[in-house]
Amino acid sequence: MSEVVTYSREQSVGVITVNYPPVNALGHAVRSGIQSAIQQGRDDADAKVLLIVCEGRTFIAGADIREFGKPLQEPALPDLINDIEATDKPVVAAIHGTALGGGLEVALGCHYRVAVPSAKVGLPEVKLGLLPGAGGTQRLPRLTGAQKALEMITTGDFVAAARAAELGIVDEVVGSEDVRAEGLAYAQKVVAEGKPVRRVSELSDKLEAEKGSAVFEQFREGLKKKARGLIAPFKCTDAVEAAFTSASFADGMKRERELFSELMASDQRAGLIHAFFSEREVSKVPGLAKDTPVRDIKSVGVIGAGTMGGGIAMNFANVGIPVRLLEVKQEALDKGLAIIRKNYENTAKKGRLTMEQVEERMSLITGTLSYNDFADVDLVIEAVFERMDVKKSIFGQLDGVCKPGAILASNTSTLDIDEIASATKRPEDVIGLHFFSPANVMKLLEIVRGEKTADDVKATAMQLAKRIKKVGVLVGNCHGFVGNRMLHKRGAEAMSLVDEGATPQQVDKVLTDLGFPMGQFAMGDLAGIDIGYSIRQERRKAGEDVAPSWMDKLAEQGRLGQKTMAGTYRYEEGSRKPIPDPAVDELIAEFRKEQGITAREVTDQEILERCMYVMVNEGAKILDEGIAYRSLDIDITWIYGYGFPAYRGGPMFWADQIGLDKILDAVKKYHNEVGGKQWEPSPLLEKLVAEGKKFGDL
Ligand code: 3HC
Repeated sequence: MSEVVTYSREQSVGVITVNYPPVNALGHAVRSGIQSAIQQGRDDADAKVLLIVCEGRTFIAGADIREFGKPLQEPALPDLINDIEATDKPVVAAIHGTALGGGLEVALGCHYRVAVPSAKVGLPEVKLGLLPGAGGTQRLPRLTGAQKALEMITTGDFVAAARAAELGIVDEVVGSEDVRAEGLAYAQKVVAEGKPVRRVSELSDKLEAEKGSAVFEQFREGLKKKARGLIAPFKCTDAVEAAFTSASFADGMKRERELFSELMASDQRAGLIHAFFSEREVSKVPGLAKDTPVRDIKSVGVIGAGTMGGGIAMNFANVGIPVRLLEVKQEALDKGLAIIRKNYENTAKKGRLTMEQVEERMSLITGTLSYNDFADVDLVIEAVFERMDVKKSIFGQLDGVCKPGAILASNTSTLDIDEIASATKRPEDVIGLHFFSPANVMKLLEIVRGEKTADDVKATAMQLAKRIKKVGVLVGNCHGFVGNRMLHKRGAEAMSLVDEGATPQQVDKVLTDLGFPMGQFAMGDLAGIDIGYSIRQERRKAGEDVAPSWMDKLAEQGRLGQKTMAGTYRYEEGSRKPIPDPAVDELIAEFRKEQGITAREVTDQEILERCMYVMVNEGAKILDEGIAYRSLDIDITWIYGYGFPAYRGGPMFWADQIGLDKILDAVKKYHNEVGGKQWEPSPLLEKLVAEGKKFGDL
């Protein structure tokens, strides 16, 4: 008997206990352990019923993802589950924590399922680019019917115990959280009441009722919009449909296996699993000891009640941390607070908050016009506009009023954190906390370490990111840090492509076809064209050689983006949909004429290569300079900050899949043809290609 699964008997109940921290994933030891424990239970004449229960924080949370791609060791999960189901003594699963994926499939192979009140169940395989491959697509619809099974399997969303009982997924929600005691009591009830063996695979009434139903076609129609670019949700639908169209359960299982294998071999599966592990890995910062102490953050001050500052404040109020929000003028403060209230009320209208919760959160945000009110806060985040002189003056004031040990943070998206810190006498307490717009929604928090930032300040920021339900990525200090430094390279290249002959909508379509939620120019319209314009103007004033751009002309004409209903695109009242505008085509044509450029045909492939490879080349430089510790830090920054499609795993993982040799060849080609520093090949990229390695090997 393996150590991770034990068999014992309590009166007439044969108890199979799984204990494989952290989440009881179905690794080989667990699968073979359950197999022998089931056999032992069958052989145990005194056991009238078997119970599967887990130690630790959760019931089985799924197949062991770390084993994917390795040769399969028997028993395979579907066979094990069939074996459990075939047992001629009743088998009960007692669920706590989260019964997910293969874990729920094990439970569905049992004859009875009970759950503690806080338990959740789900089939989240789709989020990893997979489908439930151990009978989930065949057994779940036999309990819930097609519609609910499709919803659960194609979204991967979890279902709470009470709802799972309503849907017929669990038989009973037990009275207490003591899963072992409750499971035993239920198993004894099964014996006492003489409940029979009841195999889900043999249930057919739900299947009969919905045979030939139009639900699958309707579902696929809906997915075309909801699951744009993804393969797995469609394959999930095919697999569930097979439960209804196959001649037997075994045939349905065969179809499920075929579809599962197709997905297992897909790049999307590889990308999503890379994203899953990377999201967890970013919190383990190299060089920052796990036991680094953290500072206690009980209250926060935010400077600036504009869009960014307001959004930042909401993050803290949402998790019960009081915030003082500072503005220079009462009017601006009132406006900022009113917008926050409106945001909360809109959420309440959608049923995601109660009005009491709205009031509770609003009561945690208090406005102030005085820096003196920051004397006792544990953390201050400055969120004013991007001007170094303004930021330095604010940090100088903070240094004067904040208590010793308070963390002083800037939400700057580009500026030098060390220079900001130099305005204080405590640079060790200064850090960058770069939120992404809308700050209360986007999951990324880019945490920028200054040269002198103390370790406990970095550790506190990482922990705080988790507390406010964000993914924190710790990066180094340079212009634009990781995210915007790469974005600016892509932006400049996109503008040049239009100079040379592409249209903005052609560039944007290449990016949305790749899976980005919006293209470069639509994004520029959202952020405001004046931002890039003022950055370029500042650089020109500073004597830098910044080429003229047709986008300067847009800004000078007051076409600033969505806020003026016109930018690179035009907008209609009440809509955010970008509409191509012939006036902009004319403006671009005029610009080309002035610059003596003859427009040429630009292919989609060139757009893809120039927009994306320039980012990969820059990403390699960022790695080489130690600005990002690992390529996965860059991947997560782009997935959570800029909507890079998770199913492509992030820009660096995507580059590995394309082949770094191919990318380097193209970088060299554009270096010759287009020129510019951005196309100077990164030494790291050259080294990796020479050694036949990938970013993922670093
Ligand atoms: N396999 C291997 N490791 C897993 C795992 C899994 N299925 N699920 C979680 N882990 C690991 C994590 O990588 C992490 O490891 P680390 O501590 O070394 O970083 C550790 O378990 C704890 O995970 P979290 O930090 O995510 O802990 P939480 O408590 O926040 O969340 C969870 C727990 C809800 C279980 C979450 O980890 C989760 O959603 N896991 C994935 C569940 C899943 O997708 N299951 C389906 C797998 S595919 C499958 O079953 C195929 C089958 O149909 C054939």
